[in-house]
Amino acid sequence: MGKIILTGDRPTGRLHLGHYVGSLRRRVELQNSGEYEKIFIMIADAQALTDNVDNPEKIRENIIEVALDYLSCGIDPEKSNILIQSELSELTELTFYYMNMVTVSRLERNPTVKSEIQLRNFEASIPVGFFCYPISQTADITAFRATTVPVGEDQLPMLEQAREIVRKFNATYGETLVEPQALVPDNKICSRLPGTDGKAKMSKSLGNCIYLSDPADVVKKKVMGMFTDPNHLRVEDPGSLEGNTVFTYLDAFCKPEHFEKFGDEHKSLDEMKEHYQRGGLGDVKVKKFLINVLEDELAPIRARREELQKDIPYVVDVLKKGTEVARAEAAATLADLKNAMKINYFEDEALIKSWQDKFKN
Ligand code: TRP
Repeated sequence: MGKIILTGDRPTGRLHLGHYVGSLRRRVELQNSGEYEKIFIMIADAQALTDNVDNPEKIRENIIEVALDYLSCGIDPEKSNILIQSELSELTELTFYYMNMVTVSRLERNPTVKSEIQLRNFEASIPVGFFCYPISQTADITAFRATTVPVGEDQLPMLEQAREIVRKFNATYGETLVEPQALVPDNKICSRLPGTDGKAKMSKSLGNCIYLSDPADVVKKKVMGMFTDPNHLRVEDPGSLEGNTVFTYLDAFCKPEHFEKFGDEHKSLDEMKEHYQRGGLGDVKVKKFLINVLEDELAPIRARREELQKDIPYVVDVLKKGTEVARAEAAATLADLKNAMKINYFEDEALIKSWQDKFKN
């Protein structure tokens, strides 16, 4: 059987560079590799609602933003199906059956859930739906028989949970579900791009993001305000690369050809780093170079977004079509599952016959 990709994002905001280097850029490469038989990219609105019950408007607004981000980055509707999670009631049904295969204590031990509970101050009042979202995410993954799930590193516990549920299901009801593999960035920096303030993670709530849809002047301003080495006060001072966000971003985005392309005096990133550490290379210069490097990647994305924004009905149509294809897939898996669980009573002639026999005298 061919390889199948399923991955997704919560539509709680526009996508930023953290999403891009952590997963989105990879998805486009995988899509274009031709190695995958089917690709599903999910806008996980139902999951987003698990901690945004009181703000459905935010989710609604961001569905189109995320769809635009996907398409402008190169997700191609001819090759990938973009779908809206809440449109597939099959996923909710799968979730309900999987709930019996997970213990409360197992969910409590899920590191991603743990840290998210802390982050949201849920402690004493965790919504049940939120608590169970790893189960629903297992439904997302298995519904499409995904073999491969390209995600950021933070999602590894979710994949482990999914694999456990799959194994438990298969052991109980016979081989039915496919055990998925996570595909995380092979590069540490891309696993967790820091925010512009140097904090561990780019996150909307921290206000330290560069968005894929930020205009050029906004990107410029954000880069100029970026955290560097606080002890690098004068150009002549030796600078440190440790925790220096500007260099971290260069590690994630800079290509060898950028030095010549932007007329930089250095021949490589290593040479630039050495110069910075030695002293004599100012932050402003490095930041200006980073702006060029980022623009090299972001300008074409921005241009495509501008075009797409002019034809929203087209984007809606892409979502509709992707969702339809996905629904058929999820429905087939659900049927298999019910078959395996023997809860497909009306299709089970042997069962109906046995009911008849039971009362024959
Ligand atoms: N939990 C993921 C996130 O927060 C989003 C998501 C929902 C997802 N369903 C998925 C990712 C299925 C991979 C597979 O980013």
